[in-house]
Order: sequence, then structure tokens, then C-alpha cells
Amino acid sequence: MKVDGVHYRSLWWNESDAALEIIDQRWLPHEFVTQQLGSLQDYATAIYELRVRGAPLIGATAAYGVAFAMQQEPTDRAFEEAYKVFHATRPTAINLKWALDRARAVVIPLAEAERFPAALQFAHDLADADVETNRMIGVHGLEIIREIAAGKPAGEPVNLLTHCNAGWIATVDWGTATSPMYHAHDAGISIHTWVDETRPRNQGSLTSWELGSHGIPHTYIVDNAGGHLMQHGQVDMVIVGTDRTTRAGDVCNKIGTYLKALAAKANGVPFYVALPSSTIDWTVRDGRKEIPIEERDGREISHIFWGKNAVGEVTEVQITPDGVQVANPAFDVTPAGLVTGLITERGVCEASEEALAAMFPDLAG
Ligand code: MRU
Repeated sequence: MKVDGVHYRSLWWNESDAALEIIDQRWLPHEFVTQQLGSLQDYATAIYELRVRGAPLIGATAAYGVAFAMQQEPTDRAFEEAYKVFHATRPTAINLKWALDRARAVVIPLAEAERFPAALQFAHDLADADVETNRMIGVHGLEIIREIAAGKPAGEPVNLLTHCNAGWIATVDWGTATSPMYHAHDAGISIHTWVDETRPRNQGSLTSWELGSHGIPHTYIVDNAGGHLMQHGQVDMVIVGTDRTTRAGDVCNKIGTYLKALAAKANGVPFYVALPSSTIDWTVRDGRKEIPIEERDGREISHIFWGKNAVGEVTEVQITPDGVQVANPAFDVTPAGLVTGLITERGVCEASEEALAAMFPDLAG
């Protein structure tokens, strides 16, 4: 998507330096900072610190990380080291493992001299496929929004609500939950999006930045406002992303998603999840029991990130009493029964094992 009139993807290979460039998302929306990754640790830190984030983008970054590792030393040992380091960064989003497993299948059978170019081509192909996948999610999601618009009085926008950032910077381009919004807006359908702040890392401000850059009307709200808005008929549709979807249609997404789904169910608001098939973990069925939930540093809750001071140092302010016990689970699971539909690159289906297997017979096994 565009930033100040220039088209960007959320990561790109710098051919002249033969290195990956990322947008360091910690500084958005205030500063657009890019970073070139120059070591294995750079890649791992970028993923862990949420410089790059969002399930599909983590997967794409790991694919380029494998290419980097093979550029340095195209051995089995170096591959396995990279796999281990990247896999340990974030446990919930399945795209990381998905990308690493696919990279292994491409790279390991090859002679060492062939590994770097093959791994780099694999990463490029994965990134390109992600863009097209997300575009198609938008094409299918657009039809749901169009139908809701048709049932509204003329001139009234379709009111959407989203949580976290499942936008173009959480993928390679387009986003998942935002792709139908971009497509609807571009098709001339009037929409307005309620954007959840998404404590503690405030990914909602990234979504707000994205939607604002694209001219999409939206309103930034605290995480607890959604239920109130739904009770008062101010939300026509919830649309969120997912970090891991089980074969039975449970979805694991940013903490707080489950509460939105409960509120949506109680108020008869359709709750849709937009996902590329790469976020389906066909090996798990019950998301509540089988998906590891990332527990992040309590400092993300006890302190408020305050930006940079005059000499460029990062500053934080403590908002809790000294020594208070904190818990910071980063994701939760929304059971399939609360999900109205899954918007995939192949079309929209019910959140159930039968419907997912019928949509992806080649992947379901
Ligand atoms: O912790 P984050 O910012 O990586 O969490 C991101 C999300 O929860 C997104 O909704 C999800 O990855 C889908 S991104 C298209």
C-alpha cells in the first residue's frame, strides 16, 4: 500500500546490498523507519520485539531469514540453527513454522552451492503469494460488505469493527482483515471502521495509520468500548485476523478478540475472521487446549512506552505500583461456534471442520 504516495511492501530485498529491509513498526505511526537486517540475531530480534509482526509477515521474515543464513553458510548445521532461533521467537502464529518447514523442504535436498539462490527465490515466491492471497481475501470479503451495505438506508456507512492490526503491515501487502475494507472503499461503498486500541502494544494505532493513509473513515476506541457500541446498533460487522486457525475453525488472535466475539454473538452482530490458508494448523482441532499462547514481558503492561527523549533514548513511564504481579497473555482463542464465517483466499466458508476441509481438500489431509 502507499505511504506518502510511494508504494511499499512491508519488507523487501535490497538487491544492491543483498539484504532484507523491514519497516521498524515500533515507531509507527509517528516515524517511518526502515532497517536492514544484517545478522541472524537481527532477524530474531525484529520478530520478537514486534519490529515486524502479524502472522503472515513473521512467516515471510523467517523465509528471508533462512535465505540470509544460507548466504552466510549453506550447511545443514546453519539451517537448523536458523530454524531453532526463529522458531523460538514467537510461539503462537503458525506461519512461522509453516514458512520454516517449507523452506527446509526446498533447501535441504540441494547441494550447498544451490542453497542460497533457492532459499532467496523461495522467500520471494512466498512474499508474492502472500500479496495475491490477501488480495483475494479482499475480493471475497468485499461481497459480504456489499451485501450489508445493500440492506442499509442510503447514505449510511457500513460500520465495521476490528481488533489489533491485521493490516498490510501485518502481511506483505493488503492485510487480511483490512483487505475487504480497502476493496470496499475502492469500490465506492461507504464504510466506517471502529478501531480497537489493542492494549498493551496498541496495534490499533497501526490500523488507524493504515486506514487514514487510505482515506478510510474510522474511529479509534478503547478495547472495552466494542460491547457498548454493539448494544447500541453501531456495529454491522466485526472482522479480525488470526494467528492460528484449527482444522475445526477455532481462531487464535490478539488478546481480547474472544470478548469481541462474545459481545457480537450476544448482540446478533456477524463476526468474521479473515485468513490466508497458511494460518490453518491442520494438526490441531481444539484451539483452547492445543495452541500455545505467547506470554510476553509484564513490562508491556506495567509501563507505558513514552517514545524517545531529546537525545533519542527510548523512555517509559511506570503506571503500576512497584513490584505488582502482572500477566500478559498475548492471544486468546475464539471457539468456532462464535465465528459467523471465515474469509479465505478461496472464498468464504463456515468455521467448521467439514467446511474447511471442503474448501481446502488439498491441504486438509
Ligand atoms: O502480536 P502481533 O501484533 O503480531 O499480533 C498480530 C495479530 O494478532 C493479528 O491479528 C494476526 O497476526 C493476523 S495478521 C494478518
